Amino acid sequence: MTRRILTVALAAAMSLVASAQKPGQPSWLSDAVVYQIYPSSFQDSDGNGIGDLPGIASRLEYIKSVGVTAIWMNPIFVSGWTDGGYDVIDFYKVDPRFGTNTDLVNLVEKAHSLGIKVILDLVAGHSSDQSEWFKQSQEAANLRYSDYYIWPSFKPEMPASDGPQDYYALMNSSAGIISKFVKSDAPRGPYYIKNFFDTQPALNFGFANPDPEHPWEQAVDAPGPMAMRRELKNIMQFWMDKGVDGFRVDMAASLVKNDFDKSATIKLWKEDLAKWFHENYPENLLIAEWFNPSQSIAADFNIDFFCHDGTYNYSTLFFYNRRGRGAGNGPVYPYFDLEGKGELKTWYDLYTFQYEAVKGKGYVSMPSGNHDFNRLCDGARTSTDQLKVAMTFFLTMPGVPFMYYGDEIGLKHIAGVPAVEGGGGRCGTRIPMLWDSSENAGFSTAATEKLYLPQDPDPSRRTVESELADPNSLLNYVKRLLELRKEFKALGADADWKLVSSLEQPYPMIYQRGEGESRCLVVINPSAKQVSAAIPTEGVQPKVIGGTGKKQSYKAGKTEDKIIAAGCSATIYKF
Ligand code: GLC
Repeated sequence: MTRRILTVALAAAMSLVASAQKPGQPSWLSDAVVYQIYPSSFQDSDGNGIGDLPGIASRLEYIKSVGVTAIWMNPIFVSGWTDGGYDVIDFYKVDPRFGTNTDLVNLVEKAHSLGIKVILDLVAGHSSDQSEWFKQSQEAANLRYSDYYIWPSFKPEMPASDGPQDYYALMNSSAGIISKFVKSDAPRGPYYIKNFFDTQPALNFGFANPDPEHPWEQAVDAPGPMAMRRELKNIMQFWMDKGVDGFRVDMAASLVKNDFDKSATIKLWKEDLAKWFHENYPENLLIAEWFNPSQSIAADFNIDFFCHDGTYNYSTLFFYNRRGRGAGNGPVYPYFDLEGKGELKTWYDLYTFQYEAVKGKGYVSMPSGNHDFNRLCDGARTSTDQLKVAMTFFLTMPGVPFMYYGDEIGLKHIAGVPAVEGGGGRCGTRIPMLWDSSENAGFSTAATEKLYLPQDPDPSRRTVESELADPNSLLNYVKRLLELRKEFKALGADADWKLVSSLEQPYPMIYQRGEGESRCLVVINPSAKQVSAAIPTEGVQPKVIGGTGKKQSYKAGKTEDKIIAAGCSATIYKF
């Protein structure tokens, strides 16, 4: 009898925990920790100075030891290399510089044997201008791939603008598409539409409300766009059959053109592409690069990012310059800076909007970095202590954590490295990993000048080897944070999140995770000064379970609790 009551109680408790998770999402997702790898820069196995798949396979034990459960690799397919692999020539073949399709299968098998999932980058919205599809589409004759691309017969007038427009406004107006017209001398027509660079012609998934005056604007369900959908599913199926665990979909919001409110693109994913994927691969994952979870989760993606793009989602927290890339107009003092002059409200308003919009349906993920914007270790934020504070934030927030390779050891952003393969100012975030004290820090046996990009030349640079040897290193700290996240569900992907400190006094930032008996409190102070704050009383004295170990105090009072946080510190409490 007692056992029966216990079983019923346990089942009820489990369903409570599970209810926070999206119904029908992959069972492993709640506990996932994703590590993003830029394949050219992670580990070279054949001495040509460029990373490759066997190299990544050889580092999987390390990745597992950090506490990671899944890797996402930037595109590894045959590419024209004008945009770091995002200009795909052959969607069904691994680029020879990374190895072969068999090397990918071997990597997946080894990863699975270690309990690590493998996520590929799916460039759904465009191909390379060197692809066979695009070459054929340029012909005047009506051939198999003719309608895989969009060929305007004339360029409409740019609508008059009333003053400077930001990226968001531009992309959500008809000016957005006109700015993507590329002049062409192909027999097919005078223009094609690109997605990003001129070398990346947009694939044709149709237009929302096609304009009869513009014959190139096909309906979403016209034969060309329907064939395009079948091809995309075929690509997904091809790689899923090889054992991969899902995709991060590049520019997922870009598919249907002139779709200003994104309703047609959401419908396309929700009613067809994502529906088909989840029905066939219920234990696998679709991550959107959409930068607007309120839309992408409605489109049936499992996760979307909240970082540099879209509404500049977290720029006020981390960026020393505009969009975290080049010079200009950014916050001079991001929140995560010793000066302590940042603010939280901009980020808070944007984040809470997205968080509330998708709670229980999917995840908002704030990655520690990615290949498109400056690294965390940048500008005036390079000390181990500062990086520990930022990592505490990233790894104790809700959603699935994403770490960009090297962020776990504080790999530094190197501004001004030569721009390669369309990376421009983004190359500073794509430099080769630093493993040990051997030649080229263990990344490659090639001559140093042959490396894909130069490494951080600082003689005191952090490497995996030096970080492992130091008990107080960032790497060991990150490992402990990930262990804590696993141990305390209140710190996990599904547990509630609530800011409890005041936006009027941004330092320290204090947030609560979890509910009821299972609650944690995280106190983050990136500023150099000791700070204190009062919050409505919790009625109990919490216990410190993690953090940077600097001076802190928590005094539970009758009406309010008083918290003191040392300069540049983070503390995790458990009630
Ligand atoms: C995405 C990628 C970026 C690429 C662009 C075009 O934003 O992250 O690296 O340049 O799409 O594919």
